[in-house]
Amino acid sequence: MDYTFIKDLKDHVNSDVTIRGWMYNKRGSGKIYFLQLRDGTGETQGICVKSEAGEEVFTKAEQLTMESSVKITGTVSAHPKHEDVFELQIKDIEILQLVDEDYPIAKKEHGVHFLLDNRHLWLRSPLQRAIQRVRNTIINGIYEYLNSQGFIKIDSPILTPNACEGTTELFEIDYFDEGKGYLSQSGQLYLEAAIFSVGRCFDFGPVFRAEKSKTRRHLTEFWMMDAEAAFVEHDENLQIQEELIVHVVQKVLNENKKDLRTLERDLEPLQKVQAPFIRKTHTEVVKELQEMGSDIQEDQDLGGDDETILTEKYDKPIFVEKYPAEVKAFYMKRDPEDENFALCADLLAPEGYGEIIGGSQREDDYEVLLSRIREHKLPEKEFQWYLDLRKYGSVPHSGFGIGLERLVGWICGRKHIRETIPFPRTINRITP
Ligand code: 4AD
Ligand code: MG
Repeated sequence: MDYTFIKDLKDHVNSDVTIRGWMYNKRGSGKIYFLQLRDGTGETQGICVKSEAGEEVFTKAEQLTMESSVKITGTVSAHPKHEDVFELQIKDIEILQLVDEDYPIAKKEHGVHFLLDNRHLWLRSPLQRAIQRVRNTIINGIYEYLNSQGFIKIDSPILTPNACEGTTELFEIDYFDEGKGYLSQSGQLYLEAAIFSVGRCFDFGPVFRAEKSKTRRHLTEFWMMDAEAAFVEHDENLQIQEELIVHVVQKVLNENKKDLRTLERDLEPLQKVQAPFIRKTHTEVVKELQEMGSDIQEDQDLGGDDETILTEKYDKPIFVEKYPAEVKAFYMKRDPEDENFALCADLLAPEGYGEIIGGSQREDDYEVLLSRIREHKLPEKEFQWYLDLRKYGSVPHSGFGIGLERLVGWICGRKHIRETIPFPRTINRITP
């Protein structure tokens, strides 16, 4: 038996096909039922007319409950009014499983906590499906761009002996007789090792942060793409990020039109995502924020609220460059023009979204890096391998890390990033 995907119904007008999927809604009574069907590739309406389908098939249509799984055979017809909409005139129904309980999330209005408790079912809703489809395009777009620029994928480990970012956000594990191990916060340090072999590389996988913050921007497990390149310095690092984001946004605009419509995403700001992005120094941004009423000081990192009010002002992504070195990670190279600042940039997405990328040029001098590791009170022994990289053929190099969920959240126009990952983990949620 051949089966047809709903997305391909357009190629079978006036023929009989069988589809497999789920009935997610139903209207009708007496002599006719309209079954709303989906199969993962698309949605269609199956029309069951008693006088045409016959008593037995019609009874099955009558019985069908929400989320029951089915095989349905029928003749494909083009919708009389809507272009590109195809329906099935039902001839036969095979019920695979008749759901005999009320579907828990059938009601239109549910609180977000109820939905998150039922995430395994919530994923089936059209909006959640649209987000996952956009996420898939974004992942592909990132691979596509990086591969085209000579970056190859190097998988970094998740079980690690040392911190990459702040030591306060580490998930600790007992690692047999070796003592403490930690779940990776970012594969960056390992990529720095790999550039000496392959020149340019990236990783893409889950990272973990024991974030105590309960904000719309924080998860405890999220997906990060770290990229790293030998001989790339600060300015070129920003250029690569800019081109990557432009590529990804264009790809979503081209390939996910329907999903963006489902998400009711305003396309105008996405269409404006063209190089060059706005570039401002941390010092400039602090002044601007103070004028807007923020109490941020020159020696401070941007807070979540600062990112929100700043990026609500702009309809293009903004690089905030050269943060005070004190508030950034130990591995960042200092600005040769003023050692108080780091050669770094965060890329903030517009429309109130905030940071989606963090990146920098890396300290490439052995002695300087060693003194930073000491200043940060990091365990020297565990960083010996990382210091080695500054002994054997050190070169200037830079990289950056994208938080996938933040990027998906912005492109999809979802306020809270918990909806952008299939099964979100936050400080108070580890189920389902
Ligand atoms: O800015 P971060 O901490 O940078 C790094 O980890 C670098 N080692 C990356 C690199 O240079 N290779 O994290 C990078 C990005 C942030 O810009 C943000 O988008 C995301 O990861 N991120 C989070 N996303 C969700 N939940 C959290 N708790 C996040 N923390 C960071
Ligand atoms: Mg950051």
